[in-house]
Amino acid sequence: MTQRLLSLWDEQQSAYVAHRENRFTAVLDVLSLGSDDPHVLDLACGPGALTQRVLAALPRATVTAVDYDPVLLGVARGALLPYGDRVRIVEADLISAGWPSLIGPGPVDAVVSSTALHWLSPDQLLAVYQDAAALLRPGGVLMNADHLRFDNRSPTLLDLSNRHDERTQRNGFAAGALDYTAWYDEAGRDPSLAALLPEREKRFADRPPQPLAPLDFHLAALRTAGFAETGTIWQYLDDYVVFARR
Ligand SMILES: C[S@@+](CC[C@H](N)C(=O)[O-])C[C@H]1O[C@@H](n2cnc3c(N)ncnc32)[C@H](O)[C@@H]1O
Repeated sequence: MTQRLLSLWDEQQSAYVAHRENRFTAVLDVLSLGSDDPHVLDLACGPGALTQRVLAALPRATVTAVDYDPVLLGVARGALLPYGDRVRIVEADLISAGWPSLIGPGPVDAVVSSTALHWLSPDQLLAVYQDAAALLRPGGVLMNADHLRFDNRSPTLLDLSNRHDERTQRNGFAAGALDYTAWYDEAGRDPSLAALLPEREKRFADRPPQPLAPLDFHLAALRTAGFAETGTIWQYLDDYVVFARR
């Protein structure tokens, strides 16, 4: 059941994020050019999509996967079971002060995240980047794959990106992908996940949509957080993989 929900999640996310697999490939390529046994921290891992790809692509990697949604964590726990003690799943709210103390022991070699940190306000994002810098070993890398919208300085790119998003969604749903709400309805058909839905509602009830944090904000925030080198390793319209090295 959890493997099926992870596949349905991947289809659903790919209907919102154009070329989602290419973003993952860029992250995996950079990871694989480092050590072959990295300890990777996946921030806001959801049901384990990126974690699963890291564990499959790098057979000696270990991953600590963090999220705050009990339903998605329930799926991750089941779907990642075949990886045994190579994966540790941590339930934590990234906007709470204490979450970094739940990671470890020891520094991490890479921090990754996918389609998630746009849930944070700009000040919360800066704090998470500071926490990530503190958890990384010197030379460790951070890669944040996310949808970073253009603002009104780039009206043509904003319009093109919005229209491309609409087309991606139209095509994805026409091909049978579930939308976000329908995916949770599907998860709720499993009684043990259904029991977690009210707690999920409660945890995310007070999370309003956040102001824009365009690419230049991310790069400045990463430098402010103490990263020595910042840039991008992948872009398609307003989807990026932002890169930073400690
Ligand atoms: C669209 S999902 C992406 C999941 C996964 N990374 C992927 O690419 O498929 C966004 C994730 O961010 C998580 N999230 C949002 N705010 C969070 C917070 N404050 N702490 C931990 N996780 C959070 C949600 O629970 C959800 O799993």
